Amino acid sequence: MVKHFLQFRDLSRDELAYLFERTRLIKNRFKKYQPYHPLVDRSLAMIFEKSSTRTRLSFEAGMQQLGGSAIYLNTRDTQLGRGEPVEDAAEVISRMVDIVMIRTFEQDIIERFAAHSRVPVINGLTNEYHPCQILADIFTFIEHRGSIRGKTVAWIGDSNNMCNTWLQAAEVLGFNVHVSTPPGYEVEPERAGLYGTDHFESFADPMDACRGADLVTTDVWTSMGWEAENEERLKAFADWQVDAEMMAAAKSGAVFMHCLPAHRGEEVTAEVIDGAQSVVWDEAENRLHVQKALMEYLLLGRIES
Ligand code: CP
Ligand code: NVA
Repeated sequence: MVKHFLQFRDLSRDELAYLFERTRLIKNRFKKYQPYHPLVDRSLAMIFEKSSTRTRLSFEAGMQQLGGSAIYLNTRDTQLGRGEPVEDAAEVISRMVDIVMIRTFEQDIIERFAAHSRVPVINGLTNEYHPCQILADIFTFIEHRGSIRGKTVAWIGDSNNMCNTWLQAAEVLGFNVHVSTPPGYEVEPERAGLYGTDHFESFADPMDACRGADLVTTDVWTSMGWEAENEERLKAFADWQVDAEMMAAAKSGAVFMHCLPAHRGEEVTAEVIDGAQSVVWDEAENRLHVQKALMEYLLLGRIES
């Protein structure tokens, strides 16, 4: 049975504990310039149907650093953009490479690809989820503040792919999420793939959501694919900007995260994202390290050392 990472709960609490420990070791080696090439002769295909800076770079550099190679494909100049069925593409691509990463629109597309793939498939962002980013975010939280179990994350803004994935992670790892969205943009538990609502609480006022939080986080008001709603969203989300007042309502040691790219002056003020509580650069860097651990795990299983 091939193991995929299509949504956050595809990894158990125990697997995540292993992965975060492995990430720490892989990151330490990298920082000391110690070569580590467990994936020699392995290839990664990266399929992008949406734009990317961090995801492309972290997967491509990560695969090279592990001794393998990465191949970039996009829908503009492959047959995927000309209507080749995703099932056929999966059959062919997965006979030629060892692992596949996909950034696409509906979750259904990646699920269908995975169902026809002989090799592991990783979700590099869909409309519904962004699980690799939340791996990096939680690893970053652990580095700065220790275990996330029992802690409170405040999610301010759109109930998008990032929000849904935080909510799934809260179920798997046992922490709480305070969500505040404008009316009409609330969490849809079924779309988020949640089993229940025990791990999150909704707040009409974003200040209330931030109270007592260990981590305050947000994301763009208009995600890729929703550009036609941009004007409407700018008005609807105006009071959901993370600012110094919201950070002051959180715990004094709270950290601020944003998956990036960010729009200063929209979902977050420059004062917050460029301020002392922000860990966004560590968060971005950690995409590289967690994804190296993830690819190693999906291809080689657990490594003793
Ligand atoms: N955070 C993130 O996934 O960034 P990119 O869109 O640049 O890949
Ligand atoms: N929610 C954003 C994340 C970008 C990394 C989007 O889907 O566009």
